[in-house]
Amino acid sequence: MDRYLVFGHPVRHSKSPFIHTLFARQTQQELEYGLAEPAVDEFAQALRTFFDQGGKGCNVTVPFKEQAFTLVDRLSPRAKRAGAVNTIKLTDDGVLLGDNTDGAGLVADLKSHGVTLADSRILLLGAGGAARGALAPLLAELPSELVIANRTHTKAQQLAAEFDDLGPVTAQAYEQLAGPFDLVINSTSASLQGELPPLAPALIHTDIAIYDMMYGASDTAFISWAKKHGARQTMDGLGMLVEQAAEAFTVWRGLRPGTKQVLRELKRNLGVI
Ligand code: ATR
Repeated sequence: MDRYLVFGHPVRHSKSPFIHTLFARQTQQELEYGLAEPAVDEFAQALRTFFDQGGKGCNVTVPFKEQAFTLVDRLSPRAKRAGAVNTIKLTDDGVLLGDNTDGAGLVADLKSHGVTLADSRILLLGAGGAARGALAPLLAELPSELVIANRTHTKAQQLAAEFDDLGPVTAQAYEQLAGPFDLVINSTSASLQGELPPLAPALIHTDIAIYDMMYGASDTAFISWAKKHGARQTMDGLGMLVEQAAEAFTVWRGLRPGTKQVLRELKRNLGVI
């Protein structure tokens, strides 16, 4: 049977096996999907062993995405832009192809929620790996403006400069942000510590769409905060997780699984509904 898995550390709580098993059942594909948690300095060896032993493809998550970028034989254009790899496929001619489906997953999830990206003003919070992966796919949707704000402002400036050949992207300090924005995407890891990015409440209005790439059984700190200040449309990163997985599955198997039912089952599994 064709074998796939996700590499991460820690990875025990990953929902990828659950999601891909449902995709496989839905599309009647014979495959198995597992977990691998190598020590941080043993990822390269573990990756090699997996493919030497007949593995067909894998996902890569924290903290291995940047390392995976350096270990594959070939990179897709979107992985090259993201500077990170979350999906690897062994091609028929034995080449390890590195791809990145995170940004496509974000855009697909935003669209499935009815968020319009063309001609919109987007505020992206954070300038780490998650922000980097999102930039090219977001700019491809032709927003009128994409502003990056980051606690360490120089990192936002560097990121904007790196992507400004693709569209109207600039960096602004948190305290200088000038709204109104149509969509705020939180790519920071602040919610993990129950913290908030230092955003002025005045930037939140009733027609704004709020997206937090993080998710949990209850609202993230950022979503709670945005709701408190009047945001009516809030979305967490669970849909992005399912959409990036669907994109990876499509890369591996050449057919696209449906995501709606899988997302519903995942929510039930997490106790969200
Ligand atoms: P990832 O790969 O998930 O993006 P990362 O590269 O470590 O993770 O980046 C984390 C991002 O969250 C950074 O933009 C970080 O800001 P700094 O560049 O100033 O470190 C941001 N971040 C983390 N905690 C934050 C907090 N409490 N408030 C605001 N931003 C925060």
